[in-house]
Amino acid sequence: MKFTPVKVVHVYYVPKGKKIAVGRLALKAPQIFFEYDSNFLKMDIHLSPFKLPLKSGLIPSTDSTFDGLFGVFNDSLPDGWGRLLLDRALTKHHLNPRSLSPLDRLCFVGSQGMGALTYEPETANSNTVLNNSLDKIAKEISEFQKNNNDHYVEDLLQLGGSSSGARPKVLINIKNKHWLIKFPSSFDPRDVSAIEYAYYLMAKDSGLDLPNAKIFPSRKKNGFFGCQRFDLTDLERIHMHTISGLLHADHRIPTIDYEMMLKAAMHITHNIQNCRALYRQSVFNVISHNRDDHAKNFSFLMDETGKWKVSPAYDLTFSSGPGGEHCSTVMGEGQNPGKKHLLELAKTSNIKKSEALQIIDEVKSSVIKWPQLAKKTGVSKSSSKLIDSTIKRIIKENF
Ligand SMILES: Nc1ncnc2c1ncn2[C@@H]1O[C@H](COP(=O)(O)OP(=O)(O)O)[C@@H](O)[C@H]1O
Ligand SMILES: [Mg+2]
Repeated sequence: MKFTPVKVVHVYYVPKGKKIAVGRLALKAPQIFFEYDSNFLKMDIHLSPFKLPLKSGLIPSTDSTFDGLFGVFNDSLPDGWGRLLLDRALTKHHLNPRSLSPLDRLCFVGSQGMGALTYEPETANSNTVLNNSLDKIAKEISEFQKNNNDHYVEDLLQLGGSSSGARPKVLINIKNKHWLIKFPSSFDPRDVSAIEYAYYLMAKDSGLDLPNAKIFPSRKKNGFFGCQRFDLTDLERIHMHTISGLLHADHRIPTIDYEMMLKAAMHITHNIQNCRALYRQSVFNVISHNRDDHAKNFSFLMDETGKWKVSPAYDLTFSSGPGGEHCSTVMGEGQNPGKKHLLELAKTSNIKKSEALQIIDEVKSSVIKWPQLAKKTGVSKSSSKLIDSTIKRIIKENF
């Protein structure tokens, strides 16, 4: 592994095989600047409307949320698992991860990131063709996590280095379909995949828009939860922006409220249907105790004409945020949000009370199906009971 520090990075937008120059990033430590390409300005496509508006000339970064990087490019950088892998691979090769600037990290992403942005110069990674079974990958992940064994770190980096999110995962093409498959981390319960799949089924029943998902079988008892990527098909790459990147909201600390999310959704999509979809998701998260609802767990997708929509939902599972609270508050309430807060949220988001009540009822009647869904996906009895009693308590106390 080799890398050369850079001062300038060229950014491209690559929908449907086309490669369109967006502009260039420059580092004049400690500040980062961006300048749009003059042809891109003419296209009138807003890749990051709030924090990187279309305008000519040098645009300095405005804050230090992402080490001075603009949120739209920070969204291309792996965090959690992917970042850990790169840092460990660098350390293995006697390179200091702390010496990398955000621009150097973008060069490691190169053309392999999620979404539709690519970066040059690309720092070449090894190009071995991997043909590992999922069980073998799971074993490598476990070796890496439990025994600090970095023998497989380059394999894992190639498989999941450009993904974001905390949990170990791989991005993989199976029969021309692109999947994101998640593996248990060392502190997850053994049935973590079954729980996430049961939540997926529950969310589907609740009327949320979701990508295809399934459990990939394992020779051991538990399989692996995987969902089909909505930012990539064989024909196109789709520009994806998280709420975190869009608003420069650090996902590691509770920074946003659903009110802000819905307002941003209306602003960027100009379509109340998108707001309703996000509202339904907020209701689902509250009733089902999905409290890891941070700013990177919500995204928007942009089509080639520059039109935005809310992305399908992802990362829905039984979870707790900081101190057990929701990462994103509902009208200021993180500890114990309920019907009252959700109705207030609907009101400030121009969703009619009757519609909100109907959404709440629909989601509630799906979430109470938890025990059956948990049984169907193979959740252990102890996890199933814990989640069931939590859901029942939320409904009894707050709905
Ligand atoms: N189906 C999908 N298509 C495209 N991107 C996805 C999909 N599911 C998740 N992502 C992206 O991958 C990241 C990690 O996935 P997530 O399920 O949130 O994993 P984790 O449990 O590690 O947080 C998300 O923040 C999102 O940006
Ligand atoms: Mg996540």
